[in-house]
Amino acid sequence: MSEHERTFVMVKPDGVQRGLVGEIIGRLEDRGLKLVGAKFMQIDRELAEDHYGEHEDKPFFEGLVDFITSGPVMAMVWEGQDATRQVRGMMGETDPADSAPGTIRGDFGLDLGRNVIHGSDHEDEGANEREIDLFFDEDELVGWDQTNETWLYE
Ligand code: RTP
Ligand code: MG
Repeated sequence: MSEHERTFVMVKPDGVQRGLVGEIIGRLEDRGLKLVGAKFMQIDRELAEDHYGEHEDKPFFEGLVDFITSGPVMAMVWEGQDATRQVRGMMGETDPADSAPGTIRGDFGLDLGRNVIHGSDHEDEGANEREIDLFFDEDELVGWDQTNETWLYE
């Protein structure tokens, strides 16, 4: 059995504008993941540039920062077995056009620059912890017992 871990997930400004916050939370809940933090917020440029720092030399960086700061986002922390990789699987590929139906990007997006959701990269070691620290103070995260846990995990 893999480790239970926390991962950072965010409904991007396009997802908020399109009324997909509830749909996305519902999918993560239905999967069995546990919500341990949530913050409806507008990201400032400094936080956006930190969050997407790995892309600062890319040609799309300015546009990406413009977009992610253009309206409110729903920033969240979700917990569960292998949570980071499992959420990435539920999201689909970076480009919605390459994402399978049934994934969030494959069901709700068409364009690379409007891909609805962010999740920590499971191939980037420690990205989940770094992003959680960037967006949340420790006292904003709530540890709680999920009463159906014995029916979710062997
Ligand atoms: P994200 O960080 O937003 O969850 O997306 P991701 O891991 O699937 O993709 P990443 O490589 O981290 O790229 C971050 C965001 O930049 C935009 N992008 N544009 N024009 C381009 O070639 C290009 N490549 C990436 C996407 O909107 C992607 O979500
Ligand atoms: Mg990424």
